[in-house]
Amino acid sequence: MSEFEPRDFPHSALRIGDMAPNFTARSTAGNVELSAYRGRWLILFSHPADFTPVCTTEFVALAREAAEFDRRECALMALSVDSLFAHFAWLRLIKDRFDLEVRFPVVEDPTLVIGHAYGMVSAQDSDSATVRTTYFIDPDGVIRAMTCYPANVGRSVPEMLRILDALKAVDKEGALAPANWAIGDPLLSQPTVEIDDIFSASDATSWFLKEHGKDAQP
Ligand code: BEZ
Repeated sequence: MSEFEPRDFPHSALRIGDMAPNFTARSTAGNVELSAYRGRWLILFSHPADFTPVCTTEFVALAREAAEFDRRECALMALSVDSLFAHFAWLRLIKDRFDLEVRFPVVEDPTLVIGHAYGMVSAQDSDSATVRTTYFIDPDGVIRAMTCYPANVGRSVPEMLRILDALKAVDKEGALAPANWAIGDPLLSQPTVEIDDIFSASDATSWFLKEHGKDAQP
């Protein structure tokens, strides 16, 4: 049986298109300021607690794929309510057990000031643990995508990379990424909003469902 209890009222949170709220905080990589990441992509993600099973597997998976995020010029930043010294102890344990050094900053947020600003926790929640929220923040500091998983389900690192690739590709091409799109797959064109183009289209779907770049081909 599910332990999930729906709330009576939805709680406010950030939306796609909002500026990511700035903060400065202590982290395992020194003091960090979010605005210092302008000019590059950043994935900011929260986890419920250090020394927990699912979170540990996520950190191991992310540390293993760190080069893939680097290659895409995307920084990673983790955050939880645990103290800086708890973060240090957990990262040391991960190094000893998995032979992996987690080098991306893990931010401490013991007062939940960041968690509340981002809506990673609800003001109504008695449990201070953040859920597994992931924010994809573009080089202008704008939140471009978000995912939210419960404490008992871990994130997919390939999906994090795929979302990042898709956001970069649609920005570059001014196009759309279809379902299950992955690097190398065709993108879709923006649909026309001109009635003349719709009536003169060669068939009933090509005006809204068209592979991007097809027009330019001979
Ligand atoms: C976990 O990461 O395994 C976890 C975290 C919080 C609650 C339950 C599980």
